[in-house]
Amino acid sequence: MSTTTPSSTPAVVEGVLDLDLPGHRISRHVYGHFAEHLGRCIYGGFYVGEDSEVPNEGGIRLDVVEALRALDIPNLRWPGGCFADDYHWKDGIGPREQRPRMVNSHWGDVVEDNSFGTHEFMHLCELLGTEPYISANVGSGTVAETSDWVQYLTRGDDSPMAALRRANGRDEPWKVTYWGLGNEPWGCGGNMSAEAYADLARQFATYSRDMGDNKLYRIAAGATNADYRWTEVLMKALGRALGDGEVLGHGNSSFQAISFHCYTVAGPWDHKGSATEFDTDEYYATMAQAQRVEAVLAGHTKVMDAYDPDKRVGLVLDEWGTWFDVEPGTNPGFLFQQNALRDALVASVHFDAFHRHADRLVMANIAQTVNVLQAMILTDEESGALVLTPSYHVFEMNKGHQDAAHLPVHLRGAAPTRTVAGVVGVGGHALDRSDVELSTVSVSASTKDGAALVSLTNLDAGAPVVLRIDLRGAAVGEPTARLLTADALQAHNTPQQGDAVAPRTFDGARVEDGVLLVELPAHSFATVSLPLV
Ligand code: AHR
Repeated sequence: MSTTTPSSTPAVVEGVLDLDLPGHRISRHVYGHFAEHLGRCIYGGFYVGEDSEVPNEGGIRLDVVEALRALDIPNLRWPGGCFADDYHWKDGIGPREQRPRMVNSHWGDVVEDNSFGTHEFMHLCELLGTEPYISANVGSGTVAETSDWVQYLTRGDDSPMAALRRANGRDEPWKVTYWGLGNEPWGCGGNMSAEAYADLARQFATYSRDMGDNKLYRIAAGATNADYRWTEVLMKALGRALGDGEVLGHGNSSFQAISFHCYTVAGPWDHKGSATEFDTDEYYATMAQAQRVEAVLAGHTKVMDAYDPDKRVGLVLDEWGTWFDVEPGTNPGFLFQQNALRDALVASVHFDAFHRHADRLVMANIAQTVNVLQAMILTDEESGALVLTPSYHVFEMNKGHQDAAHLPVHLRGAAPTRTVAGVVGVGGHALDRSDVELSTVSVSASTKDGAALVSLTNLDAGAPVVLRIDLRGAAVGEPTARLLTADALQAHNTPQQGDAVAPRTFDGARVEDGVLLVELPAHSFATVSLPLV
């Protein structure tokens, strides 16, 4: 693989990075995750059961835990997704052999035996060193059920729910902060209007009470894609709370954040395309879709700013990622897709947008962590072998941005763009096609602990690019850089070849006279760490 010295004269893109002007904090939670009872995400992915030959603790796969610990994952959303609004948590506690079974009607119509429930999930979070983000059942559950779940998890006295938890083997209450109020209520979560849901969200928030020192951060289920009206209805529903810092801060009569979902769907919904067999046009269409997340983030932010200029209400993108056709021969309800270099570049441009919008965006969750959609990890059904995907490596290379201060990068003049014709509307809407100007260079930066981290993506499928970024406001030491690329955009990792797409030390970045020079190969992602001296 050639990582330097391109054969033809590459385009040059110039920019400025003010190292002494740190801006908003990039919450580590924008690097959040999502695990649903869907296909092989929980069963076979995270959880194999205590009798499995795969090394496990309490049934939880230790190789998956080890791989995810290297990402410093900040939170894990569970149990769904659409599944959350069918899930009755009391079916998932107590002796496993006595737990009732249910039908997972959204995902393959398979029978769920509830062997992975609340205790197993909280144990998983402890092993991962991550915070739980639990989605309560608003669509088909009761308010009392939700209220009981909060008490079961977080209450420390001898109240009925705390006593039940103890009887099931857990003495101390857990700490739970992130609390979702349903999922996609405009669709699988109840097919409601925004107004109907807004009332329910306040009702469920009211009964999702803070117990003792445990303070919940309640997240109302929000829009699909660019449905800004939904966000506006929820902002209006906050009403009195917005004028009352106490209530909004941590009270239980309202919610503290609003979510939305935005997937990268390259083709029309009924023909999304293959994860690995695609041509260059499909590649550019995917990247044009991915880059639209920036406009959608800006759209929701604009609505929220109008009602909450001080940015006290958080925006949460709790489902994002690529959505392709399932792999041939797999259950269509299991949403199992391969993950190629293209997916990694989708992730890197999302993170650039997240970093820029992190003054409002408080959390984002990749859908999903294992074996479903844009996964970090794929496990082989036959052998149990584990594969780290190209997307995994972007999360790992970028983890230095977690809780760092954003540093704006200003590109000078006209950065390279490419017209991508006939891109379907956000979310795969075939009737809403348009031509999109794709920026083929994407950059973001942050600083913490005496260093700056710069992330750079070249989306051009065939040509390298040179970036010349003026470093202002601080002197820097010797850069260290890593590069993620491969010969082909379709390259992906398999149990037989686990490192077809893996980060390598990159010698194409240097600092000369206060200018960061990076020679980025075609279709590549790089990180450059600059010690501030
Ligand atoms: O992530 C898969 C599904 O996509 C989720 O269950 C649902 O919320 C969304 O439609």
